Amino acid sequence: MTSPFDPSTHALGPGLAAQMRAITSVPLATLFERDPDRFRTLSFEAEGIVVDLSKQHWTREALDQLVKLAESRALRERIDAMFRGDAVNHTEGRPALHVALRQQTRAPVMVGGTDVLPDIRATQERMEAVATTLRERRWPGATGLPVRTVINIGIGGSDLGPLLVCDALRALRSRDVEVRFVSNIDPAHLDAATDDLDPATTLFVATSKTFTTLETMRNVEAARDWLRRGLGAGANLAPHFIAVTAAPERAQAQGIPAEQILPFRDWVGGRYSVWSAVGLPVAISVGWEGFRQFLAGAASIDRHFREAPFSANLPVLLALSTIWNVNFRDLHQVVLAPYAQALARFPAYVQQLAMESNGKRVAGDGTALATGTTPAVWGEPGTNAQHAFFQWLHQGTEVVPVEFIVPMHPLQGSDARHSLLVANALAQGQALMCGRPESAVRAELIAGGMAADEAVRQAPHRTFPGGRPSTTLLVPRIDAFHLGQLIALFEHRTFVEAAVWGINPFDQFGVELGKRLTGPIVRGLETGEEVPGADGSTAGLIARLRAAGRA
Ligand code: F6P
Repeated sequence: MTSPFDPSTHALGPGLAAQMRAITSVPLATLFERDPDRFRTLSFEAEGIVVDLSKQHWTREALDQLVKLAESRALRERIDAMFRGDAVNHTEGRPALHVALRQQTRAPVMVGGTDVLPDIRATQERMEAVATTLRERRWPGATGLPVRTVINIGIGGSDLGPLLVCDALRALRSRDVEVRFVSNIDPAHLDAATDDLDPATTLFVATSKTFTTLETMRNVEAARDWLRRGLGAGANLAPHFIAVTAAPERAQAQGIPAEQILPFRDWVGGRYSVWSAVGLPVAISVGWEGFRQFLAGAASIDRHFREAPFSANLPVLLALSTIWNVNFRDLHQVVLAPYAQALARFPAYVQQLAMESNGKRVAGDGTALATGTTPAVWGEPGTNAQHAFFQWLHQGTEVVPVEFIVPMHPLQGSDARHSLLVANALAQGQALMCGRPESAVRAELIAGGMAADEAVRQAPHRTFPGGRPSTTLLVPRIDAFHLGQLIALFEHRTFVEAAVWGINPFDQFGVELGKRLTGPIVRGLETGEEVPGADGSTAGLIARLRAAGRA
């Protein structure tokens, strides 16, 4: 358990705050003019990934102090504890061992006195067998026809990870079996996923760690109804379901045969679970070798995270840029802009990873934090984002750090459009940082033939303040290995941020209250019964909905 981070009382806090004021009194672009070595000293490379932190509004000296700050927050001990399998998720009394799922060696990983690796390998063998059978169209449905479409039903961590990876590796997907995803309890989601499908050749993967999540359970029920409507009331639906869960007994109680249940353990957090059997849709879509590569990529970052000194440790350095921006610069948002259509779902994935992990207001010891924790994470792929919210980033009133994720190479071959994509990312970073002063805009307008008074009137609208920080990550390409690296990099970064703030990133009690209130409100909507504890607004909305006859 840990105490909360407070920059005003931490030994290094006031010094860092003073450094921040001094540094930010100098325009970011000027820092480059003063220090020709700035890119070299503030960009880092490991495991093929380049992280350029030189466009953050800080200096190497400030970063060195932040490294000391991380050390003072027992980061090394916390990393070792996580890898060792200690109960780092102390509110739920369990380890967080997603790293064991991708471990490439046979070194034992002990949980409660038992080596969990044999168990992990056994499940992986079953995943491989299931994925291969489906990919080879050897999985018969109730009528004997082979399955051609697999629909993963799951939500949150039981959806976002496999969805991201299947989407990102779409170019490598099987043409023999298609993988789709349904998460929302909105009936429109399942309807849209099934409306062109034949129930005889459709299989559902019910993915839920707890096997109690309302959305998933109701969608599985709806999937059963859909199959029955298509196959006949008496059809044997067993071949049409696989379950992936940490509660196999619940899946079995719902009629899913034991041999079609792929388990994982409760020490795998939902948003860290894509490396477990939750990754089955990935193995089905890109094949076992692709999934293996994905795990190997993550393992390369695990090694780096464990072994590299903090001053050259990519997850640590990325986390420290968050700490600097949130806790010293008071910037509470971050935009993720992957310049890769393959990573279209990456911002949504990191949103859950960071915001469900670190959207906390109390430290491990239960004390309230007096400082910010995770920034709001959002984003869209570039270049599309440039034509949507980049106007706001460049000329709006908020300063929001941007993280550009740029593949150095396209997945295959070469294409001039890839250079344009990369150039756009670099241009945006430069524009955010350097801006364009009003005087230069005015001079250019006049040089272009505009009358001086009109140029004066126009210039403020065309001025870019600059000074807006960004980070650029260069990854070799978006294949299975490098995608595994990228996700692991963000996982560990999230962990480091939590360690500095002193919070537990592995629970998520903040999702519980809304779930609890839903039951009585459903009853109120359906029966008109008074909803105990409903506030005036909620009661009024329930009454209005009933008046509309929707219930
Ligand atoms: O949103 C809360 C949450 O518990 C996530 O952490 C989790 O990934 C998701 O719901 C789904 O949970 P389950 O896998 O148990 O269905």
